[in-house]
Amino acid sequence: MIPQSFIQDLLARVDIVEVIERYLPLKKGGANYFACCPFHGEKSASFSVSPTKQFYHCFGCGVHGSAISFLMEYNGLGFIDAVKELAGTVGMEVPEDDFTPNRDRAKEQSLTEVMAQAARFYKDQLKRSPVAIDYLKGRGLTGEIAARYGLGYAPEGWQALQAAFSDYSAAQLLECGLVLENEQNRRYDRFRDRIMFPIQDQRGNVIGFGGRVLGKGEPKYLNSPETPIFEKGRELYGLVQARQAVREQECVLVVEGYMDVVGLAQFGVGNAVATLGTAATPHHIQKLLRLTDRVVFCFDGDAAGRRAAGRALEVSLEHLADNKTVSFLFLPEEHDPDSFVRAEGPDAFRTAMTRAQPLAEFLLAELRKDIDLSTAEGCARLVHEAKPLITRIAAPLLRLQVIKMLAEAAGFTQAEVETAFGLKSAAPPPRRFESDRPFNPGFPRDFSDGSGGGRFRGGRRGFGKELPRLAPRQTPSNPVETLLKLVIQHPVWAARLPIDLLPHDTPEGLALIAMTDAMSVGDLPTHGLGALLEHYRDTPHAPVLSRISGQLADTPLDEAMLEPQFNDTLYKLESNLIEKEINTLNARARESGLEPTARRRLAELLSTKEKLKTRAKVSDS
Ligand code: UTP
Ligand code: MN
Repeated sequence: MIPQSFIQDLLARVDIVEVIERYLPLKKGGANYFACCPFHGEKSASFSVSPTKQFYHCFGCGVHGSAISFLMEYNGLGFIDAVKELAGTVGMEVPEDDFTPNRDRAKEQSLTEVMAQAARFYKDQLKRSPVAIDYLKGRGLTGEIAARYGLGYAPEGWQALQAAFSDYSAAQLLECGLVLENEQNRRYDRFRDRIMFPIQDQRGNVIGFGGRVLGKGEPKYLNSPETPIFEKGRELYGLVQARQAVREQECVLVVEGYMDVVGLAQFGVGNAVATLGTAATPHHIQKLLRLTDRVVFCFDGDAAGRRAAGRALEVSLEHLADNKTVSFLFLPEEHDPDSFVRAEGPDAFRTAMTRAQPLAEFLLAELRKDIDLSTAEGCARLVHEAKPLITRIAAPLLRLQVIKMLAEAAGFTQAEVETAFGLKSAAPPPRRFESDRPFNPGFPRDFSDGSGGGRFRGGRRGFGKELPRLAPRQTPSNPVETLLKLVIQHPVWAARLPIDLLPHDTPEGLALIAMTDAMSVGDLPTHGLGALLEHYRDTPHAPVLSRISGQLADTPLDEAMLEPQFNDTLYKLESNLIEKEINTLNARARESGLEPTARRRLAELLSTKEKLKTRAKVSDS
């Protein structure tokens, strides 16, 4: 881990315009700079770079971020390498990991060495065990594939590892999860008489094991526990071996089991990785989408497979981009990938992969399941249930497409659905569609708020035509989302938020609470959107901050204009909450009457409401 303070110093030192200019010719247009987006093919310049926000954003495909994320995306670097590269350009030296407080590099190193030694031992034992070799052969694996994946065998007996380690009582053996201790503090091996699948991190270090019984027995697979070097939700089995094939085929296949990965590789399908007995996590998705633009999840065709697919779908939504595709392959009910490729062959498997269901289609199919669209109620319910999912799609163009498909299915217009989703903000004045000029910084300003850029609609229905546009309709905007938008632009305002009024159950509310907390200890970056996003990288707040930032790329940083809006929104938040509580109390009063404390509370609320009203009037005049 690189200390956050270093990241922030670095971002304060570099200028994102200079960084990007090294790779792309930028042209000035107003306050920002523009170029053709390097992340999707296009002729007009919709990729913008803001020097004040230290942030880039593409109005076409929705990519955005800091100078660090640009280097990651553009050069395909991991976070640490991108930081190192950027630091090099301004002569800063990245501090060594050892200095970070909550991570003990020396300990991790010693655990990694222990795991490597165990892996060598198990591998060696496989050579000596005809039974284990026969088992693997029986499953169709050759020695070559077994070696490629470092497969091993944990022998029978309670303390076989004693032969591998001079000190069987070393603390690391316990900490790695290789041994267990009984009540009498006697140690014994966790893995006994099992085929061993070593789990490697991206650098190739062995960080855990999966052990399968030979034949039948419970549990079928035994896994290493989580340790300081092994976090299941972050790791993917087979990634190191798959990397080359993923690059060549520009696609990664995600399966459920160790044997699926190895079995597919045996048949020449080398681009598969597996989650480790857990559902796909946001970390997995991020890792996969950083690796390549196409992710195919492969699930068994049974009900459990569809449920797992549903979860993978949900965590994918917030990490999508318009230049990436995520799709879902469902195998026939009786098969998993390993048995399928064995029975039908690799060509049949590849053909099946090309027929994988794209995310949007799967999403709509899942939503429509069990809904009767011949009734008004069914149509309304479909849109109602779709809202929380579709509004989370981070890819603006894809989201627009899904909204169109949804609207069509449910018999609404696209605009009606957008309004119902709260995606239609106060529309800017109607703008004439502009043809593909080579350089056009003014192009779709309102894109990422989902209200639909003129170019996109024009492009689909015939170029150059002004389309009839609905009169701008004010949707009741959500004050918490608005506050987040404003505070992202002016982090210092986080100090003015009434923390107890913020909702604890929405991503927007939680992000605001986190920012308020950070601000109160002087730990919130205030030098631009890029720096703020870096501060929250790999935290639960990253997706919502990323989504909102995408909507901000084009708004000017005008404090004088934003300040009244901030005050208004605070007022709205407060009065909404008061109103809600008043309504609840009134309802209770009608039904069963109020006890004295509740009556006092109601009176108090009504008077606060009056005060707020007067305050609002004063600030209006
Ligand atoms: P499966 O039960 O589908 O096994 O579990 P599989 O991959 O088809 O294995 P074979 O073909 O019978 O050998 C899929 C994954 O779920 C986790 C493992 O990660 C496994 O690879 N799992 C399963 C466990 O962790 N423990 C278990 O007992 C079973
Ligand atoms: Mn299997």
